[in-house]
Amino acid sequence: MQALDKITLKEMSDELIATHGSAKAALIPILNKLRKNNVTIDATTLTTLAQTLRIAPSAIYGVVSFYSFLDHRPKGKHVIRVCQTMSCKMAGAAKVATALKSELGIEFGETTGDGLFTLEHTNCLGLCSEAPAMLLNETAHIKIDAVNVKDILKSIARATPVASN
Ligand code: FES
Repeated sequence: MQALDKITLKEMSDELIATHGSAKAALIPILNKLRKNNVTIDATTLTTLAQTLRIAPSAIYGVVSFYSFLDHRPKGKHVIRVCQTMSCKMAGAAKVATALKSELGIEFGETTGDGLFTLEHTNCLGLCSEAPAMLLNETAHIKIDAVNVKDILKSIARATPVASN
């Protein structure tokens, strides 16, 4: 992870603000670009960003913490995000969450010891009519249940070669 100097941040922000029309409209694209460049949103970067965009640090923090996609902490190779919003909860997301925790041997917010999977919650993915829903990296999986999440994990494990020494 790296920090970002004020000049680089300003240049990058100006470009995205010009594209999106305002600092507020550009905030998520800016945060997404920072995430893709492995820039950590620590207190210093948050302050710099707030000054550059003239947006309150608390507002930026609110966006970062709401959208799990913008979370800048280190992740595993594959990130599983299970929707925790109402429609998915009512459709059985808790059972899916329990199955994933059991299969991976980790809690939400953790990464497996081999660095292969990170398990997270997310807010509504806009797939409520096909709940429960989750994202595996950037691919949506719908109408998931405790059985088919195991199949999904197995397909990933099969596709990921085991490192040899
Ligand atoms: S509530 Fe889960 S996708 Fe909308």
